[in-house]
Amino acid sequence: MRTFALISLFICSGVLAAFVFGFDLRDTVQTLEYDDEQEGLEDQVVIKFSHVTSEHTPKGLAARKFAELVEERTNGTVSVEIYANGALYNDQDEQQALKENRVQMIAPATSKLTSEYPGFQILDLPYAFSSYEEVRKAYEGTIGRTLLAELNKSEMRGMGFWYNGFKQMTSTSESLLHPSDFERMHFRRMPSPVIERQFQALDASTSLLPFNKTYENLHVEFINGQENTTSNIYTKKLYETQDHLTISNHGYLGYIVLTNETFWKNLSDEQREIIETSMEDATEWIRRHSIETNDAHLRELKRTDSISIHYLNQEQQNIWRQALEPVYIETEAFVGRELMQELDQITDQ
Ligand code: LMR
Repeated sequence: MRTFALISLFICSGVLAAFVFGFDLRDTVQTLEYDDEQEGLEDQVVIKFSHVTSEHTPKGLAARKFAELVEERTNGTVSVEIYANGALYNDQDEQQALKENRVQMIAPATSKLTSEYPGFQILDLPYAFSSYEEVRKAYEGTIGRTLLAELNKSEMRGMGFWYNGFKQMTSTSESLLHPSDFERMHFRRMPSPVIERQFQALDASTSLLPFNKTYENLHVEFINGQENTTSNIYTKKLYETQDHLTISNHGYLGYIVLTNETFWKNLSDEQREIIETSMEDATEWIRRHSIETNDAHLRELKRTDSISIHYLNQEQQNIWRQALEPVYIETEAFVGRELMQELDQITDQ
């Protein structure tokens, strides 16, 4: 009520002043419309880029690279604000935030799209890839194109696949060298049915937990194991709560960069082109630098002395592969025969 009275008073005094001093109110409004700064502000586009990892991980560094390229190539008319470490949204709510355009870019692990887009499960299959080159072929070939096409029917537009690295296992008290070591253990997992089946095949139980809740759940011993890349294990200090790290390379963790479809359509052709080429360059950058970042963090883990590091030999790895074989048969029903054949082709080459 009081606000209404104040507004009325303000309008009345404006009209009275116009009457007394003889100036035209329409001129005043027009003068404001010609304010250069106002026009400049309207033209600036802000991309809020939200992600959950540390700034020093492959994803954190690539997001920074992408922001620099976009800002430089658009002379600052498009700016990219990065929110790392889940500062704005965690992995459980960032997709909804993107769909509602509260943020304009996210880069979730592909595993986090599997419930809505079952085809993405193929990328989580244990031992699906035995080299970085095979991962690249999947992302850039028929598998990547098929998954992107599936996604692009929605409010989320896929901009490209980003790389992190191979996942390793960590555990409390017992080292994980043989499938039987997993029995009765409780792991944190990402929301992917394949990952759930992977742990079931090893007779371990799991809880679905956000990435940034892993440390505290290990700390209070609600879970006693988890899987991740060495860059995530190091930067989130998970090694402080774990006794053993097994270099198993049993799965690959990569990302899909997503933008909001309506936001994208409202950009100019020139802005879209610059953002797309900057994304291609940042993708190439992360592809080349993700390996060395994970290697550097593995060296740091060795230096901490607080976790014992074990490497699976070929024979041990073969036993893990055998134990995980049933996951393939169960997953084909969700992914389809064609994509499974594509994966076979990549890995047989
Ligand atoms: C995880 O949840 O473990 C990862 O997806 C975190 C990330 O984004 O690398």
